[in-house]
Amino acid sequence: MVDLVYGLGITDILRDFPAHFRMLTKYVSIKLFKSKPFIYGSADIINVCNLHCSHCYWWKTRRNEKDELSVEDWRTIIKNTFKKHHVYVVTLVGGEPLLREDVIRTFCDEMPRRVCVVTNGTYPLPRLKNLYFYWVSLDGTQQIHDSIRGKGSYEKTKKNILNYVKGPDRNGKPAWKDIWITMTINSFNYKTIEDLVSEWKGVINKIGFQFHTPFGDNDPLWLPYGEIRNQVVDTLIQLQKKYPDFIMNTQRQLELMKGSWGGVSNTPIDCPSWAILSLDHKGQTKHPCCIGSSDPNAIKPICEKCGIGCYSILVAQGLNNK
Ligand SMILES: C[S@@+](CC[C@H](N)C(=O)[O-])C[C@H]1O[C@@H](n2cnc3c(N)ncnc32)[C@H](O)[C@@H]1O
Ligand code: SF4
Ligand code: SF4
Repeated sequence: MVDLVYGLGITDILRDFPAHFRMLTKYVSIKLFKSKPFIYGSADIINVCNLHCSHCYWWKTRRNEKDELSVEDWRTIIKNTFKKHHVYVVTLVGGEPLLREDVIRTFCDEMPRRVCVVTNGTYPLPRLKNLYFYWVSLDGTQQIHDSIRGKGSYEKTKKNILNYVKGPDRNGKPAWKDIWITMTINSFNYKTIEDLVSEWKGVINKIGFQFHTPFGDNDPLWLPYGEIRNQVVDTLIQLQKKYPDFIMNTQRQLELMKGSWGGVSNTPIDCPSWAILSLDHKGQTKHPCCIGSSDPNAIKPICEKCGIGCYSILVAQGLNNK
């Protein structure tokens, strides 16, 4: 089946026509009336992670709160937020969301085919009837990924992906369609992009790239603007031209990644941060965006050096903060 939009074919679009139509009307009202509706959602469904990756924003703002929300708490939050605002897709993050399969199932029940799970993939990936797809994080090829995410993590994740892909069809589609890889590019791993693409092309559905976003000025993982970063982006654009169905970033979005597109210092200026309703593990709204925090005193991301994919793609589509 031919993909028309984000891995969906014509049958998928017709089946969920109301959701697609609502999204279309939101885009029209943004363009015509400068309205600022929530289009997407993100939820940190858990305040725990089994890894401690060197680049991770979540650990920077994590509060040491042990009590988690129950499934019923989340059901109420989903109704009062994401469903109320008719968000198109909600992305479940954390922490590591696969440690709360009960909450993932609740989201899938409430918002069938409108839920993505972003996971480190170190736990087996459950086959969930109403999931949209998995974003599995791989931060380069094995050695460099392990240097960021911990020894042995690449092997575990690879095994879990391959086991999933070997498994039965889901809703009449082959299992490989459910797996999308996300790589966060930084100054340590940028040389492994092409090898990662070669390793996974033909095995999983799609790969998306974003750039590491720092929270401090001297973060060695940030790939500075300039010659090397431009070359990295040009390589990604060449790969995108070669494999347009596999690399999910648009060329316009990749071009933005060469420089500052989001804001000044810690303040979003052009970034349409309003478009994604982002909740933390207590269901409270995070600011300024999904990598921020609900705590106003928490350390903030540097908008001027932002490389976050889900917002830059909106800018590339013509959305802004005006
Ligand atoms: C915080 S993790 C949560 C989900 C899951 N634990 C995982 O690793 O996929 C969500 C995504 O954010 C990315 N990420 C973490 N820190 C980042 C940063 N400073 N800049 C950009 N992306 C980052 C991770 O690589 C991962 O793909
Ligand atoms: S697995 Fe995900 S949440 Fe956990 S530390 Fe790594 S990037 Fe952060
Ligand atoms: S996505 Fe980037 S530019 Fe937008 S508010 Fe967050 S850090 Fe700032």
